[in-house]
Amino acid sequence: HPHVGYRGTELQVEQLGARELAQRFGTPLYVYSKQSMLDALAPWQRALRGRAHLLCYAMKANSNLAVLQLFAQAGCGFDIVSGGELERVLAVGADPRKIVFSGLGKTRTEMARALQVGVRCFNVESEAELEVLSEVAHGLGRRAPVSLRVNPDVDAKTHPYISTGLKDNKFGIAHERALATYRRAAELPGLEVVGIDCHIGSQITEIAPYLDALERVLDLVEAIEAAGLRLRHVDLGGGLGITYTDEAPPAADVLLAQLLARIDARGHGHRELLFEPGRSLVGNAGVLLSEVLYLKPGVDGGKSFCVVDAAMNDLMRPAMYQATMGIVATTLRDEPPRVYDVVGPVCESGDWLGRDRALAVRQGDVIAVLSAGAYGMSMASNYNSRGRAAEVLVDGAQAHLVRERESAAGLFAGEHLLS
Ligand code: LLP
Repeated sequence: HPHVGYRGTELQVEQLGARELAQRFGTPLYVYSKQSMLDALAPWQRALRGRAHLLCYAMKANSNLAVLQLFAQAGCGFDIVSGGELERVLAVGADPRKIVFSGLGKTRTEMARALQVGVRCFNVESEAELEVLSEVAHGLGRRAPVSLRVNPDVDAKTHPYISTGLKDNKFGIAHERALATYRRAAELPGLEVVGIDCHIGSQITEIAPYLDALERVLDLVEAIEAAGLRLRHVDLGGGLGITYTDEAPPAADVLLAQLLARIDARGHGHRELLFEPGRSLVGNAGVLLSEVLYLKPGVDGGKSFCVVDAAMNDLMRPAMYQATMGIVATTLRDEPPRVYDVVGPVCESGDWLGRDRALAVRQGDVIAVLSAGAYGMSMASNYNSRGRAAEVLVDGAQAHLVRERESAAGLFAGEHLLS
């Protein structure tokens, strides 16, 4: 990753040393490279240049305000999944007409707020939701722009927890119900049909599942239009994977070139295209820095542990998906490495960041978990009453503290004693 790498023995994020950042801002610390985010966006924009399109950054991947601001300024729209995300992205001045609202459990309150600010589209995930959205919009004297999220029933070949396009997933409207649901949408007074969408999963490293989903979606588009409805846009969701260790996902422009070729070949080249990339825009731009608190050598050939000050509450992916993320020392030592399980202080055996990692580290050193820019801080919790980490955005030789470390007092500020 060009903006996160070693200069001599020191890990750098753009022009700044990771160890110095850890000393200056404390640990655990998320550090992001601004240039890396912009570089990840560029191939998406390049491949879509000259076509009607909207890139809606899936802000669940990393919803720090400064990150949202960066993508808004770069011309992106946003894919949101809650009222909280809506308020967050409005707080950076994002254009509501570039926001698509996804998610299978939108509340009436969330719908009303999104209608009031004028989001571009609701991605509706069930027939029941469609009825409620129409009712809410009608009650407000509006028509809600809708796109149905269809479930193409393709295997994205990713982890079961982040695969979303299979029949038995809770997401989307079954392919065979799609046409009937569109007909119903067209009848409802509070709705205006504007598009169709799908999202088949996350951390996808192959092109084939995207092409399969595309064919299924275009079949539907044709059937829906044959039934007399008009669809302005086709939203192909997000899901493009990144390299954590040895994965080799296609580059965004390679994926897009293949999708666009198919779209054109089937005569849909005039349609506006939407995408909802999250991880691929921010994942490789971030590291999680953490101090080595203690080294616990294995007893009788058993495991050795490297106890660090970051834990599962800071970075859930290893505990939740057995995700493998690179872990490196921020200062390379000329010493033979030893093999450790890198674990946090939380009282759960599932609290580990990496297993069987060769590291040459001493107590007090700083390690970096790589590719932690996506689904790191955004999934962090306060378990064990641990305040969430600070976040720093590096721009060249400048470090901006974009989120302060949570204080203990802040954690219980909203709680009340019995009177
Ligand atoms: N659109 C929809 C409707 C989604 O559900 C998601 C992600 C995205 C877009 C963005 O997908 P991406 O481009 O980031 O793959 N926490 C998990 C990933 C969960 C993804 C959920 N949906 C992880 O850490 O791997």
